[in-house]
Amino acid sequence: MKKLIWLAATLAMLVAFTPGHADAAKYVGSKKCKMCHKKAYKAWQGSKHAHAFEVMEKEGAASKPECVKCHTTGYSGSGEVSNKQKNVQCERCHGAGSGYFKVMMKKKSYTTEKAKAAGLIMPGKDGKFCTDNCHNSESPNYKEFNFDERWGQIKHTLDKPRAH
Ligand code: HEC
Ligand code: HEC
Ligand code: HEC
Repeated sequence: MKKLIWLAATLAMLVAFTPGHADAAKYVGSKKCKMCHKKAYKAWQGSKHAHAFEVMEKEGAASKPECVKCHTTGYSGSGEVSNKQKNVQCERCHGAGSGYFKVMMKKKSYTTEKAKAAGLIMPGKDGKFCTDNCHNSESPNYKEFNFDERWGQIKHTLDKPRAH
């Protein structure tokens, strides 16, 4: 019995102190990224991703969770879509930013590893992230997906080439 109590207490401690448990990353919105990623923001703004929710409004699908789940960012799956959640924003592909944007801010100590540990996703260039998440036959308007061709439509880079 004593052992069991000890075990339960240890488990409770583990849950309480697991990093990321208490302060899961939050979505901050593409405008926050614009500050430091002007080029990427401009490329995104001109892409269909930045307008994916307008399509929902035109189709009268704005309150259909089964539709908006792929046309939004950080939408929980129920209730109304907030303005901040509309469209396929930076964080739909790069992960909720509240943790990693603080790592990026400290330019000198920035490493990709630290940013990833704080929630950054690099989707990669094999197209798997895209087809797993959105560009698949669950979409009623699915078009065959070829990463290189599609990357050509949303290509974006760092404002300055990496110094290190
Ligand atoms: C305060 C400035 C700042 C903000 C805000 C910011 N970033 Fe960054 N970001 C950086 C810097 C600096 C780098 C590293 C550039 C380098 O190494 O040359 C970077 C790198 C990146 C990279 C490349 C990661 C890698 O290591 O290959 C991605 C992707 C990225 N940022 C996405 C975002 C997104 C999405 C947001 C908004 C949620 C955001 N950033 C907000 C400054 C910022
Ligand atoms: C699995 C994710 C997903 C779901 C679910 C989804 N969509 Fe989409 N939708 C997409 C993607 C991705 C595109 C872009 C088309 C492409 O490039 O394959 C798109 C494009 C569209 C377009 C624009 C077509 C064009 O080419 O201009 C409309 C309209 C649309 N969706 C309506 C809907 C409606 C209505 C629903 C709900 C019945 C829905 N979508 C559900 C992912 C999804
Ligand atoms: C539809 C998905 C998607 C969206 C939306 C998106 N990105 Fe990306 N981003 C990618 C992919 C894919 C890569 C290439 C990943 C790789 O190299 O592994 C990338 C790479 C980057 C890089 C690194 C570029 C380099 O040259 O190293 C930065 C910085 C970046 N994104 C910032 C942003 C910012 C800021 C936004 C919003 C304004 C944004 N991204 C929106 C998918 C996206």
